[in-house]
Amino acid sequence: MKIWRQKDANSKGHMVDYPISGIEGDMSFLEMLDVLNESLINKGEEPIAFDHDCREGICGTCSLMINGEPHGPDRLITTCQLHMRRFKDGDTIVIEPFRAKPFPVIKDLIIDRTAFERIQQAGGYISVSTSGNTVDANAIPIEKDKADEAMDAATCIGCGACVAACKNASAMLFTSAKVSQFVLLPQGRVEAYDRAKNMVKQMDLEGFGNCTNTGACEVECPKGISLVNIARMNREYLWATSKG
Ligand code: SF4
Ligand code: FES
Repeated sequence: MKIWRQKDANSKGHMVDYPISGIEGDMSFLEMLDVLNESLINKGEEPIAFDHDCREGICGTCSLMINGEPHGPDRLITTCQLHMRRFKDGDTIVIEPFRAKPFPVIKDLIIDRTAFERIQQAGGYISVSTSGNTVDANAIPIEKDKADEAMDAATCIGCGACVAACKNASAMLFTSAKVSQFVLLPQGRVEAYDRAKNMVKQMDLEGFGNCTNTGACEVECPKGISLVNIARMNREYLWATSKG
């Protein structure tokens, strides 16, 4: 293994070589890192810090750049769903944090993704009256194809692979998924224009780059979020800004 080590946000990082043996093909990538960390702890060395939570492809925290690809060589899976049988004996595996200016490294392989949370806070919600006369959401008929498209967009887990894959460090795929999951539904249309304007504004403020239609984000996204969402967000944004 060649693994990025960085003491804290203010220190300079560097790659460190870690030979490792006794790894089973059925171990997950994170279990392999657990084994490596146990051996480091037994030797009195500091373990490698990496993010993880669910280990089921749901939470989006396991953000690793593996041999230059976010979440590694397989498509439509997260790092925690990657297995060691994907690699061969004797392979060199390079592990780095996701690289993007708005995602500063906190320690080793852990990055700060709160920029995504601030984009969400700028408009990734709907306002619902809780006055006691709240309408049951299921009482509003929604076409099946629209519901499916909204659900597809809602599967974005906020992992940041799209940003890490993009040469511009653009967050358009993430932001457009969050915009789309609401604007496709009648409940989300009420605040649609403000949502598009505010979320795009926050995305720019955080320092993410622009989209130049490279498509690397869609290829590396573990949830298959489509570029169609970016086109939809651009339309929403144009309508919103043309209204002033
Ligand atoms: S769009 Fe895909 S790659 Fe980007 S944050 Fe969402 S799930 Fe991760
Ligand atoms: S640890 Fe939750 S998606 Fe990988």
